[in-house]
Amino acid sequence: MLSDAAIDWVIDAYTRGAVADEQMSALLMAIFLRGMTPAEIARWTAAMVDSGERFDFTDLRRAGKPLALVDKHSTGGVGDKITIPLVPVVLACGGAVPQAAGRGLGHTGGTLDKLEAIPGFTAELSKERIRQQLSEVGAAIFAAGDLAPADRKIYALRDVTATTESLPLIASSVMSKKLAEGARALVLDVKVGRGAFLKAEAESRELARTMVELGNAYGVPTRALLTDMNRPLGRTVGNAVEVQESLDVLAGGGPSDVVELTLALAAEMLDAAGIDGVDPADTLRDGSAMDSFRALVAAQGGDLNRPLPLGAATETVTASRDGMMGDIDAMGVALAAWRLGAGRAQPGEPVQSGAGVRIHRRPGEPVTAGEAVFTLYTDTPDRLPGALAELDGAWSVGENAPSTGPLIIDRL
Ligand code: URA
Repeated sequence: MLSDAAIDWVIDAYTRGAVADEQMSALLMAIFLRGMTPAEIARWTAAMVDSGERFDFTDLRRAGKPLALVDKHSTGGVGDKITIPLVPVVLACGGAVPQAAGRGLGHTGGTLDKLEAIPGFTAELSKERIRQQLSEVGAAIFAAGDLAPADRKIYALRDVTATTESLPLIASSVMSKKLAEGARALVLDVKVGRGAFLKAEAESRELARTMVELGNAYGVPTRALLTDMNRPLGRTVGNAVEVQESLDVLAGGGPSDVVELTLALAAEMLDAAGIDGVDPADTLRDGSAMDSFRALVAAQGGDLNRPLPLGAATETVTASRDGMMGDIDAMGVALAAWRLGAGRAQPGEPVQSGAGVRIHRRPGEPVTAGEAVFTLYTDTPDRLPGALAELDGAWSVGENAPSTGPLIIDRL
């Protein structure tokens, strides 16, 4: 059992650079293998929050009224672009979203890597700029910067030491950023299944319970949805391709699962923020969510009039028989996108904005022999064979549609 003093010391010393990466890696691996008690998780999270600043935006006003500050965070998925349409939907309904977002971790993509595919977009915002943007636009999506700097270092180390898939480390990582960012209510999207960090439903439930308790103990009312991550969300996995799909959703179209999850999380966020009498689906129909997204992107330097990048080297995967698309393994597609350059192999490495996978046939859709079921994009042609190998065995075509469970499994 780690004492409170030991936890406080190691988080502070590692953040200051007084503990070497090798030593911290050993401790992270011990936590990964042995877990932590609830008291250890709470103290570890508190020490990570205390490693930096804690924002307070309760003094801000928009149109003369206090802001309904609410945020959402996902535990990491494949094709999980939900933040991109969700934030403008909530904004268009009257909420305000201060979102500290992350970069890719392990096999999962990061919201910042995706948004940075928009020419000119920056997530490196000063606290003053975040405050100004919240007052003027109502939302800001930013790199955590001075918030929970301990998480920034530990997150990067976990990414390259195979210690991402750990309940205490995920819970403390997510909650340290979210408790520091200044939201007054929080909704968590806790992923379950092959493409999640924690695959088993029982473990994901435990993760959700742990994070909900941490949030409530800190005075930030927190709730969670448990959602399916066995297959990728939507029809795209990567960076710019996911932004394009989010724009489709904001224009009133897009894949039904992305729309369903966006609207379910929006309803939870609005309820948590005490906003009623609005239907988030209206904002996709009437264009107000798209207007909010344009305002948010413009405030952060992005130019949606310039084309989104798309990798110049492509390869298509075709079906060898007629039938129905079977299940698609989220992990196989995630690893293919990662090999194409959408994610990192080394900390701090740039990602390719144009790298990714387009899924032409979703599970249960009819397939004809010879037609394209996936297209792969990269700027580096020699990445294509490795990505194709990851997709091998990750999909099939059968006689019948695969059985599916609900996208939204439970609510805590
Ligand atoms: N998101 C985070 O911020 N941290 C994790 O560990 C996993 C998902």
